[in-house]
Amino acid sequence: MAPLAKLYVEFLRAEALEVVQCTRGGEALDAAAASSPDAVILDLKLPDMDGLEVLRALHARDPAVSVVIITAHGSIDLAVEAMRLGAFDFIVKPFNADRLNLTLRNALERRTLARMVEGYRKDLDRGRFHGFIGSSPDMQAVYRTIESVAASRANVFITGESGTGKEVAAQAIHRASPRRDGAFIALNCAAIPKDLLESEIFGHVRGAFTGATGDRPGAALQADGGTLFLDEICEMPFDLQSKLLRFVQTGTVNPVGSGREERVDVRFVAATNRDPLAEVQAGRFREDLYYRLHVIPLALPPLRDRGGDVIEIARSFLVDYAREEGKALTAFSPEVEARLRAHDWPGNVRQLQNVVRHVVVLNDGPQVTLDMLPPMGGPETGAIPRAGGVLPVADTLEEDGAVRPLWQVERDMIRKALRLSGDDVPRAALMLEISPSTIYRKLQQWRAAERGGAGEEAA
Ligand SMILES: Nc1ncnc2c1ncn2[C@@H]1O[C@H](COP(=O)(O)OP(=O)(O)OP(=O)(O)O)[C@@H](O)[C@H]1O
Ligand SMILES: [Mg+2]
Repeated sequence: MAPLAKLYVEFLRAEALEVVQCTRGGEALDAAAASSPDAVILDLKLPDMDGLEVLRALHARDPAVSVVIITAHGSIDLAVEAMRLGAFDFIVKPFNADRLNLTLRNALERRTLARMVEGYRKDLDRGRFHGFIGSSPDMQAVYRTIESVAASRANVFITGESGTGKEVAAQAIHRASPRRDGAFIALNCAAIPKDLLESEIFGHVRGAFTGATGDRPGAALQADGGTLFLDEICEMPFDLQSKLLRFVQTGTVNPVGSGREERVDVRFVAATNRDPLAEVQAGRFREDLYYRLHVIPLALPPLRDRGGDVIEIARSFLVDYAREEGKALTAFSPEVEARLRAHDWPGNVRQLQNVVRHVVVLNDGPQVTLDMLPPMGGPETGAIPRAGGVLPVADTLEEDGAVRPLWQVERDMIRKALRLSGDDVPRAALMLEISPSTIYRKLQQWRAAERGGAGEEAA
């Protein structure tokens, strides 16, 4: 045994290979664990272990390892069995150096190819990418686009229905880019009052307007060296669009009230859930700005077009939320998965998120069953009764003198927060400074009250 092994090492001396010689099976497995060999030459007759056992263990550790079997003339059956178990090739003793070298070269080549294929495969069906979950072909295309644009400075224009992950995409572009150590500044053009937007973007100097008590850098300056994410770009007032265009073209900003120009280095990523060209045609969005920002288009597919992603994403949310809420829920029943898969998800991933959160907050047990699902019909999210639905939404809270029952005020305020946050329960909870669970519980109580026809005060 040992002298033969020595001979084989001699055979391989001329090759530029690093060879480790072992005389026992256990020793070989330890060596494989320590140095991850590309190929193994394995004599099936070992002093301590069954050679096939060693083969199995080698493959279990690394399925791509190429194992060449050495066998005696009388034990071809064993060699055939080894091939069936995935050995790459076998050589019958005695053999010369050429035979061993040739077989080993082939084995190593196969190993290289296997590695390449593995690399492509990983690339092709990535299930996770910078905050995204989902391995559907459409999302693979999204990941590839993000990866290939990230390295450049080209501006990216993201479109997609509400809740499809436009903000996730913007962050992924930043994180995959060489600017990742710079700041990612997100500016929501819809959420900021129109008259404040200019100073939010460009900053202002002290005294620029009533209330400007000091110099304040805007988002542009904060994003210097990083990425400026202009969210809901179509909501930007028309007159401000020309100022933004100047910034995009020249890379300089002019803080409100200052005569100074400041040069900044930012990469622009814009997003909208509208059809930007329709906005251009309707005269609401400047065409020149559109073309400046729309260098690389990135369209996020609606969740209903992503096939099995729905389940992949739902399972991941279930695990996360169950951990957060201290619940034992670990899986969906097959009926629930079928229902989730069949739904058309008008609110996309955000809606799915709300549904799973709702289920986890209000239920427990190892499995999510159909009865735990909230109604999912609504156009925003099934988890949330539509504002203005059964109960009137009071925007009259500020009305002086009218004292109303506290439960009404609470309900109206929660609905208002949901409306302002686009039915994003965690975001609404932040605004209200309460926990998301509280909102989910309230929603369920109201629905139960509506169903039972009981008084509104069921909460
Ligand atoms: N593929 C995904 N995998 C996991 N989570 C996702 C995915 N896409 C979106 N999300 C999550 O769903 C929520 C909504 O995503 P995001 O805010 O990026 O959507 P959006 O397109 O910007 O929506 P809106 O148009 O309403 O602003 C976020 O909590 C985000 O983390
Ligand atoms: Mg968004």
